[in-house]
Formats: sequence, C-alpha cells, structure tokens
Amino acid sequence: MKTPNIDLKNLKNKAKNEIEKAEDLKELNDIFKRYLGKRGELTQVLRSLERLPKAKRVKVGKEANELKNFLRIKCEQKVKEIKEKIKKETAKIEWIDITRPGKKLVLGHLHPLSQVKNKTEEIFQLMGFSVVEGPEVETEWYNFDALNIPKDHPARDIWDTLWLKEPENQKSKIKNQKLLLRTHTSPVQIRYMKKNNPPLRIIVPGRVFRHEATDASHEINFYQIEGLMVDKKVTVVNFKAIIQEFFQKFFEKPIKIRLRPGFFPFTEPSFEVDMSCLACKGKGCSVCSHTGWLEMMGAGMVHPNVFKAVGLNPKNWQGFAFGMGLDRLAMMKYKINDIRLFYSGDLRFLHQF
Ligand code: PHE
Repeated sequence: MKTPNIDLKNLKNKAKNEIEKAEDLKELNDIFKRYLGKRGELTQVLRSLERLPKAKRVKVGKEANELKNFLRIKCEQKVKEIKEKIKKETAKIEWIDITRPGKKLVLGHLHPLSQVKNKTEEIFQLMGFSVVEGPEVETEWYNFDALNIPKDHPARDIWDTLWLKEPENQKSKIKNQKLLLRTHTSPVQIRYMKKNNPPLRIIVPGRVFRHEATDASHEINFYQIEGLMVDKKVTVVNFKAIIQEFFQKFFEKPIKIRLRPGFFPFTEPSFEVDMSCLACKGKGCSVCSHTGWLEMMGAGMVHPNVFKAVGLNPKNWQGFAFGMGLDRLAMMKYKINDIRLFYSGDLRFLHQF
C-alpha cells in the first residue's frame, strides 16, 4: 500500500497565509471549508492516517491534530478581527455629530388677515354671536334694493360696483337680476334674516369688491366683518357695550370709542365709530391725522324698511348692524401702513407674522 505523501508544514503555511489575507467572513468561511470541511485538505490527511505505519501514524497524527487546532484558533481570531473592522467602518459611516445645530424646518402659518379674522370670530362667539357666510357674487336686490337703497339713489354711487356680464343660461334662474361682486357684507343681513327668525346675533366675515384705484388705504378687494343683532329691545347702548368689549379684547388694552353721526340707507340713525388712536394714545399724531381718533366702522340701528324687506314687522323688532374693515383692523393691530402689502404675496412681509 502506498503511503500518502503528507507535507504538513507546507499545508500549515498555505492555510495560515490564506487566513491572514482573508478580507471578509465569506472568504474566511471558504478557506475554513477548504482545509477543515468534510472534504477539506487537512480532514483528508486525518482520514488517511490509518494507512500509515503505526510509528509514523502517531507522530503525524499528533502534528495533524495540532495543526487542526491551530487553524481553528487562527480562524476564530480572524473572525473577530473582521467583525471589529466592519463595526469600525459602519460607525464611521453612520456617525452622528450630536453637537451640530439641528435643521430648522420651515413651517407655514396663517396670513395676518386670517389671524385677525379668527381672533375677531372668537371674541364675538364668546358674546353669543354665530359666524355666518354669504356669496361673493350677489344680485342687485340683496346688495342694494333690500337694503333700502333705491335704484336712483345717489347712495349707490358710494360703492363703485363691479357688475358681472350674465351668461345666457343664468338669466332664467334669477329673473331680471343683474349680478355683481358684492360691495359690502351687508347683503348677508338680508339673506340671514329671510331664513332665520329673531332673536339673532351674527357676524359675517367676508371678501368685498370695489372698483377703485388702489393706494395705501384702498384695494380693489378687501375684507369686512358685518355684525347684526336683532331682538325685542336692542338699543345703541347694547351696540356700544359690545363694540367696546370687542376692541378691548382685540387690542388687549383699554380702548376708548366714540360714535359720530353718519349715513347709511339701511340704518337709522347711522353712525361712524371711531376708536382712540393707539399710536399716540389719543394725543394726536400722523396716523390719526392729529385728531386722536381712528375711524373703524360704519354702523346704525336696522332701518324699518330692511325689516320689511325680509318680512319682519319693524314694530316688533329692533336691532343694530355694523360693518368694519378687517384690513383696517389688522393694520391697526400690527401697525401696517399700506393695505396693498396684504395682497402682495411678499414673503418678507408675511414672515413677520
Ligand atoms: N355696509 C357698510 C359699508 O360697507 C357698513 C355698514 C354695515 C354700515 C352695517 C351700517 C351698518 O360701508
């Protein structure tokens, strides 16, 4: 029988070299299999021992077993080494600098006019008012006629109305009614009273339109808040108290108000409501044209003809109505001197709120 030719020294060097050079766990596993697997080189040697003469078998057997242990330990060490290397590399890649300042997320926010509208609604709701809305495209009847503004009355000229061309198919729906972009929120008084019986308290925030040249205090579209309170006995005293309370809460400081005589066809008597100037605390400055007062709204006691237009008996009901400019309110609150800024979309302006 031929004795196998065994060169353990060479085998050891070869295997040791390969193990040391292994780059990853897969490669190492392949090397392990090649020498120590079922059909591995060293396994074959161990199996062939029985074919050796006894004296040689003991000697070679001992050496082969030692080599087996040696390679096992070598592999285990290499596994540790590779795992350590992987750990270091991922730590390097996934390293987080916890001392770095965080990324600032840019969040949107409400437009200053929306903020003022929300605040106004909140204050009036606390006083028992409901928030109601109406259409921006109105008929002539709601915008003018029902509000006691006769066809030939010069009051119609107060508002430079934007009239709409009616498409053919709409003509039949709203008979003989010319459509327009509402010039004020007052038509919603009519809409609401036609559908709801008093006692009632509403405010109506909304966009209105006027055909005007724009300047620092005039825009072609702006926002109003209409107010209406109707009950058996509602007087100017109620109006004054409620408006006083509103201004106080809105500006979060003591505010004086005063009523001046005014004219609106849908209220009688009518008044203009001024508040004490915030810029100079009523002493007089350029903001208030040195009067100490700022005009904030038009108001008055609901005209009997308005009650008649919605089918209510003016002998049974009394009420006050007011309309104030939301833009004006926002300009006072934030000390803004040009209404056009609200509609400019200029982020340098908007980011300040
Ligand atoms: N509608 C009026 C305007 O636009 C304001 C107003 C509302 C006046 C209600 C009196 C009563 O100027």
